[in-house]
Amino acid sequence: MQLKFDWLIVLENLRRGIMVTDAELEPPSGPRIIYVNRAWLKMTGYGREELSGKTPRMLQGRRTDRTVLAGLKQKLLNRQVFHGQTWNYRKNGEPFVMNWYSYAIYGERGKPIYYVAEQEDVTEIEKLRMRQRLLVNPQDEEANTFFMILKERKAG
Ligand SMILES: Cc1cc2nc3c(=O)[nH]c(=O)nc-3n(C[C@H](O)[C@H](O)[C@H](O)COP(=O)(O)O)c2cc1C
Repeated sequence: MQLKFDWLIVLENLRRGIMVTDAELEPPSGPRIIYVNRAWLKMTGYGREELSGKTPRMLQGRRTDRTVLAGLKQKLLNRQVFHGQTWNYRKNGEPFVMNWYSYAIYGERGKPIYYVAEQEDVTEIEKLRMRQRLLVNPQDEEANTFFMILKERKAG
């Protein structure tokens, strides 16, 4: 097995968005973004130079589900793997459904040294799912709200 290889090229070319932050969860400075790959930049519309000093909160907005975020924090503090999804926003204000795993990378002393996230835009799959639900019941509240949110834009 070859251990010495160009890991950055591999990370940059993964299909899923990858985000690495420092191990500080508390606002305002933590969790500071250390690295994102190209798929992440494409998904969110941001440029690498816009991320210095930023936290993943930059993706959040009015429709972001705070209970999902509280769950994420709880999982990470309990050394567990988080998997969930909520509304996030691209640089141009467009909402999208972010589905992500997040977990800690531990150092030799067993302390978290990074948090990582594997992230995916699942808006298209959710659209199909919600359309199906509307075919069954045009009054489906969650599905109607979904399409209403899709038309909104984040101010700013
Ligand atoms: C590695 C990592 C990735 C994260 N990615 C996202 C994300 O894609 N979208 C999002 O809304 N929040 C994301 N968060 C969550 C926020 O950074 C923040 O931790 C969350 O809002 C809970 O903390 P708060 O209540 O202090 O904001 C991520 C957190 C970590 C550690």
